[in-house]
Amino acid sequence: MESDNNNLYQLIANLEWQINMGVEAMVEEKNNNHSNIEKNKLNKGDNLKLETPQKLDTPYLKEEEINQDISIEESINNCLNLEDLKSFMLAFNGCDLKKTATQLVFSDGNPKSNVMIIGEAPGAEEDRQGKPFCGASGQLLDKMLASINLDRNNVYITNVIPWRPPGNRTPTENEINLMKPFLMRHIEIVKPKILVAVGGSASKAILDIEGGILRHRGIWKEIRLSNSFVIPIIATLHPAYLLRAPNQKKLAWEDLKSIRSKIQEFNY
Ligand code: URA
Repeated sequence: MESDNNNLYQLIANLEWQINMGVEAMVEEKNNNHSNIEKNKLNKGDNLKLETPQKLDTPYLKEEEINQDISIEESINNCLNLEDLKSFMLAFNGCDLKKTATQLVFSDGNPKSNVMIIGEAPGAEEDRQGKPFCGASGQLLDKMLASINLDRNNVYITNVIPWRPPGNRTPTENEINLMKPFLMRHIEIVKPKILVAVGGSASKAILDIEGGILRHRGIWKEIRLSNSFVIPIIATLHPAYLLRAPNQKKLAWEDLKSIRSKIQEFNY
C-alpha cells in the first residue's frame, strides 16, 4: 500500500515537472545524431603543488606516490580509482579556488551507474555540504532526473570545478583548463555509458565548443578518452538557468527524452 502511494506521488511529481516544462508545447524534432569525436586534451608539463601526506584527510596516497617532480598528467594517470583521485585532489594546491572554498566537492550518486552528469561548480549549499547539486538547482535537477525515472541511485554526479568559486562566479577558462585533466580522469575511472554535460561551462570544458549552450544542447556527440574509450555525450541546459528562464524548460524536456531514449536504445 505504502509503495503504491509512493509510486503515485512519484507519478504526480513527474507529471507536475513535465507540465511545468511545457511538455505539450511542440518542439521541432531535430536530427540529434551528429557524431563528433573530440580528442581529450590534457595539460602537459605542469608541476604538482601538493600538501604533505600528513595533511591528507584520507589515507589513500602512499608517501612514495606523492612525488613533487612529476607532471600533473602523470600523477593523475597514477590514480587508479576514485579514492586515489579524491585524495589526490584533496592534496592538490594548484588551484586558488581551494583557498576560498570550505571543502572539496567531489561527487554524489552511484559510481557504478551508466549515466554520469557533469555540472559546472559547487554553489554555496554544495560548498557547505560537500555534495554536488544539493541546493536549489540540485532540487530541480532531481525533478528533471525523476521525470525520466532516474535518481541518485542510478546516476553519478560531479562538477568540472570541485571548489566553489567566490560569490558563485563562473569559473574562468584558466580554472577550467587546470581542472579538466582531473575531470577526464574521473570519467575514465567511472567509465559511464552516457555523459550529460549540464550547462555551458561543462559543455565547453568537455566538448571544446564555441558559442552558447542553446546552439549545442540536445545533440549527441562522442568523446574519446585517452584510453580510447568512446562515450556518447549530450549537453543540456543548467537547472540554475531553467530557474531563471522557466520558459526554456521545454527544451530541457526534449533533452531528457533524448537521454531516456539513449538509455533504452542501449538497454542500460
Ligand atoms: N551548479 C553546478 O553546476 N553544480 C553544483 O554542484 C551546484 C550548482
